[in-house]
Amino acid sequence: ETPQPADLIVFGGTGDLSMRKLLPALYHADRDGLLSPETRIIAMSRGGLADADFRGKVDAEVRDSVPVDDPGVWRRFLDRLHHVTIDIGGQDPTGWARLTGMLAGHEQRDRVFYLASPPMTFGPFCREVNRAGLVTPASRVVLEKPLGRDLASAQHINDEVGAIFHERQIYRIDHYLGKETVQNLLVLRFANAFLEPIWNSLWIDHVQITVAETVGTPGRRGYYDHAGALRDMVQNHLLQLLCLVAMEPPSRNDRESIRDEKVKVLEALRPITGSEVDRFTVRGQYTAGESGGAKVPGYLDEPDNTAPTEASRQVETFAAIRAEVKNWRWAGVPFYLRTGKRMPYRCSEIVVQFKDVPHSIFPGSAPNRLVLRLQPSEGIQLHIMAKEPGAGEVTLKPVPLGLSFAETFAGRVPDAYERLLLDVLAGNPTLFMRRDEVEAAWRWIDPIRSEWDAQTMPPEPYAAGTPGPAGALDLVARSGRSWHEEN
Ligand code: BG6
Repeated sequence: ETPQPADLIVFGGTGDLSMRKLLPALYHADRDGLLSPETRIIAMSRGGLADADFRGKVDAEVRDSVPVDDPGVWRRFLDRLHHVTIDIGGQDPTGWARLTGMLAGHEQRDRVFYLASPPMTFGPFCREVNRAGLVTPASRVVLEKPLGRDLASAQHINDEVGAIFHERQIYRIDHYLGKETVQNLLVLRFANAFLEPIWNSLWIDHVQITVAETVGTPGRRGYYDHAGALRDMVQNHLLQLLCLVAMEPPSRNDRESIRDEKVKVLEALRPITGSEVDRFTVRGQYTAGESGGAKVPGYLDEPDNTAPTEASRQVETFAAIRAEVKNWRWAGVPFYLRTGKRMPYRCSEIVVQFKDVPHSIFPGSAPNRLVLRLQPSEGIQLHIMAKEPGAGEVTLKPVPLGLSFAETFAGRVPDAYERLLLDVLAGNPTLFMRRDEVEAAWRWIDPIRSEWDAQTMPPEPYAAGTPGPAGALDLVARSGRSWHEEN
């Protein structure tokens, strides 16, 4: 199939996300022949850059992070790039006039507005695009996360965007859904017969979902102080992973069936409110420590343009929650979620721990674990018990049966953003969040957030390079369980 010409307009197009993720993803797509020769990428920002300046900036900042084996292909990619200066809510209409001129005569093309900007700009941006007469039937809008900061603001943004675009034109991105192993989770569950019969509370003891990062937050205080791990990671990435583990089998692999099932999971989450928040959640903030063999500062001492405030002292860089899905399949099975910055290693994984054998005839048996590794080194491992070779007493040892994607499948694994951008261009919203999903997620997060906000104690400290505060260990240890740690 030949790719259709499209105009991709990236608002916030010179920002961090665009330079680090979107442009490299688009270059890869271009290199693989997945963009039409006529497709244009138009960055919008306040930056006041000419096309040539923007191309120079991308050449300087992106080229080294992508494989350029053919300078002609890189040149072709740069030639697609344009820059239009606009100031949302400002008085100067020249930027809109220029964009209107560029798009005139291309009304039939796929037109994608990608809003890589803070959520409060989504509504105003859509209004201005509409006022400029640029919303065509073939237009789509992509909203970056976080969508709002609570249910009320998310509803407000959804209303504002929904006043201009139809729901089917709105693509709410959660880049975790574009990761290979995440999609593989659906294949693993619904294209193999042996798992589904045991995928329930009769056989599964608990589930752990971990997204651990080694990075801190240098230079991100302005955003992070007001987000925190709960809004930045749990509301979206971790809950989406939980949905895919817990959802019922959809009857079809289409855009609505999968999302319908995910919403049902979010709606079945048992609310954690009031005094339960203390029992079932843990928040932490990193202090000075070590990362990658070097000394690193604590959250409050991260270099930044702004000095830490009370909000900085209260914000969590680590969150752990014991969640429960109240339905027939999952009754009584805890879902432990945790995520943190400045952890000892980078690792995103889902661990499904099965119940122990009903009656063990060997000492030292341990329950089976299925580990789905999202990153790094994507793969799936089933930890089974085996006998260590040797005469004498039988000694058991958990050993992994493993699938490594890199070893099994040749070729490059596309970045999540590449997959998702191509889906937007193809008009496929399956891996994007529907309005009701986002709002259901906030509905569960809000009471936890408000309880945390009401606390005067700062989050529990943990030294950079350690796996989170003591409270997180206790959260699982209380019921005799333990976190699965990378060896
Ligand atoms: C983003 C968060 O959504 O996800 C960041 O805003 C986080 O704080 C990032 O670092 C992690 O993404 P990945 O793909 O590197 O796991």
